[in-house]
Amino acid sequence: MISLKSKDIISILDFTKEEILYILDLSKRMEKEGSSDILKGKVLANLFFEPSTRTRLSFETAMKRLGGEVVGFDELGKTSTVKGESLRDSVKIIEGYCDIIVLRHFLEGASRLTADSVNIPVINAGDGASQHPTQTFVDLYTIKKVKGKLENLSIGFLGDLKYGRTAHSLAYAMANFNAEMYFISPPSLRIPKDYLEELESRNVSYHEVESINEVSSKLDILYCTRIQKERFADPVEYEKVRGIYKLSKSVMDELNVKDDLKILHPLPRVDEMDESLDATSYAVYFQQAHSGIPVRETLLATVLGAIQ
Ligand code: CP
Repeated sequence: MISLKSKDIISILDFTKEEILYILDLSKRMEKEGSSDILKGKVLANLFFEPSTRTRLSFETAMKRLGGEVVGFDELGKTSTVKGESLRDSVKIIEGYCDIIVLRHFLEGASRLTADSVNIPVINAGDGASQHPTQTFVDLYTIKKVKGKLENLSIGFLGDLKYGRTAHSLAYAMANFNAEMYFISPPSLRIPKDYLEELESRNVSYHEVESINEVSSKLDILYCTRIQKERFADPVEYEKVRGIYKLSKSVMDELNVKDDLKILHPLPRVDEMDESLDATSYAVYFQQAHSGIPVRETLLATVLGAIQ
């Protein structure tokens, strides 16, 4: 019997394949049947030290749809961090105000530190360039929905694979499903070695290339990512790779791709995906973002012990 009650969600590696599939099944049920007021009386603290549209608002919507309340902040400047309070002290106070913490922070490891500091569940909503596990549940849910399966797919990760935390978490997750992986990036934005070593330890077949033309015909899924300008220490380095990939309807018309290729993107997009792509059969990124509601409803309800 799987139970995720009181479990922290920090890294996708903390979940077995069975637990991942269990969450996806519950999310499907949540989307179909809904579930009202099961979190009545519970309070979520949404602590966002970095900007967010989708993650913060979908967690807030999910909690409210299930009858719960939400407190929190969406910028560091409005918190006592600016007076010098440590993250550890802040979260030890906040745990007394709520039942669960969702944390986005610019530092890798901030969610793990928080989980180690408090006695309520903590959900990592993105920690620096490390991981974004709830986005991964959303991505897997979308892939399963549009492809009908998760096993034996060829997936291309395009763009900023150095700083792209959504790509890191999804690559780890897809390692459970016998995926063939293609990492498409400029040399300066290659996926860090640690991630490749983990994939190698799990016998994942992967390829690193610079151009999508080299691999486009093989892909079932193209996971496009934004180049994360805010994480570059040197703006000159960002300028060297800015706009390096630009997908559009006309680019797709020229590329050799499978008819049933699907393009996902965690969003926001900047210039890597033109709006002309939106009306093509490849685009599923808006559907993907909307799946954030049933998936995050399920994660909150499961961790708080309201469903299983
Ligand atoms: N996908 C995602 O994390 O988007 P936000 O930064 O808007 O939350």
